[in-house]
Amino acid sequence: MNQPRFDLFASCPPGLEPWLLEEVQAHGWSRAQETRGGVTWQGTWADVWRANLLLRGASRVLLRLGSFRTTSLADLEMKLAEVPLGLVIGGDSRVRAEATCKKSKIYHSGAAAERLLKAAGKVGGIAAKEGLTLFLRLDNNQCTVSVDTSGDLLHKRGFKEDVAGAPVRETMAALLLRACGYSGDEPVFDPMCGSGTFVTEAAEVAAGLAPGRARSFAFEQFASFEYEIYSPIRERALAKAKRETGLSFLGSDRAAGAVKASQENAERAGLSDLTQFAKHAVSEVTRPDGPAGLVIVNPPYGTRLSDRKELAALYKAFGAVMRERFAGWRVGLLTSHDDLAKATGLKWERPGPWMPHGGLKVRLWQTGAL
Ligand SMILES: C[S@@+](CC[C@H](N)C(=O)[O-])C[C@H]1O[C@@H](n2cnc3c(N)ncnc32)[C@H](O)[C@@H]1O
Repeated sequence: MNQPRFDLFASCPPGLEPWLLEEVQAHGWSRAQETRGGVTWQGTWADVWRANLLLRGASRVLLRLGSFRTTSLADLEMKLAEVPLGLVIGGDSRVRAEATCKKSKIYHSGAAAERLLKAAGKVGGIAAKEGLTLFLRLDNNQCTVSVDTSGDLLHKRGFKEDVAGAPVRETMAALLLRACGYSGDEPVFDPMCGSGTFVTEAAEVAAGLAPGRARSFAFEQFASFEYEIYSPIRERALAKAKRETGLSFLGSDRAAGAVKASQENAERAGLSDLTQFAKHAVSEVTRPDGPAGLVIVNPPYGTRLSDRKELAALYKAFGAVMRERFAGWRVGLLTSHDDLAKATGLKWERPGPWMPHGGLKVRLWQTGAL
């Protein structure tokens, strides 16, 4: 039977697209392409489901419902009536709409969103503050209508209740691990682990655990969704790659609260046997037993110059510990200011691209084997 195919878009923070592309292709979607802020490819409903269950680096997965040229609100309204909104919206669906207008005759995004909600209403949708999200994007008078198939952003794996420090999102952590060449077959250590995001993501990759195994998705609310077809596909996706790993995934932090949060988050994710967290200042850190692997860390950032002068001492201590005790390990460091990375005294390769993070711009610095 010929399954309908859709244009799909997995989003990620700008700068991280190459690694999301690599991940999408590794799942067999070999014709995927990089675009600004994400990756596009074509797929069926089964691909939509698998993408949500399996992609570690995607912030969300959108499905394109229609695309057309339009230059007036009356024309937009007419063309929206042709978009197959009934695939996702049915009686009682609660729906919200977001619109953006760029370089287009229709410049009022509120009016465009309102037309989209009206079209959704015609197939039974009820406008609400929360619910299925439709996106309308107007760019150079070309209108694209998409639906969010994920619901809660995909970094919400369903395990992190305790937050310490300023955590990186799981999706970003996954892409940064990939950018550091991590593929699940070496130990990983984060000596300023906060709530343990890098460590638990790395352990999940090694154990072959699907990131979406414990949560639900917006597509489960779609009008055309059939649980009986989804269920075996979900089972197969989740069972696919569970494997034993003899590796250890370690985190430490000087804050007792961070260590506790990391342990509890790892336990909820079923990773207690793979992960260990300890309370140490970075200066007290020792090299873990076993083979060399990857140290990945985002130390505190400083936005003000005065803070950065103080932080430079911490970065310098981190660099000294790496050089003196971590021969053979590679280091990945995420930070907001080049002077902080340089204060480590480590021999960096060229830094990665700038990317947005918590209202700041950060980038990844990497060493080869020390
Ligand atoms: C930005 S947070 C790390 C967030 C973490 N990557 C996550 O995703 O949850 C920085 C962490 O460094 C820790 N830290 C700061 N100074 C430290 C030191 N001297 N030794 C060890 N940890 C330190 C803080 O307690 C904080 O948890």
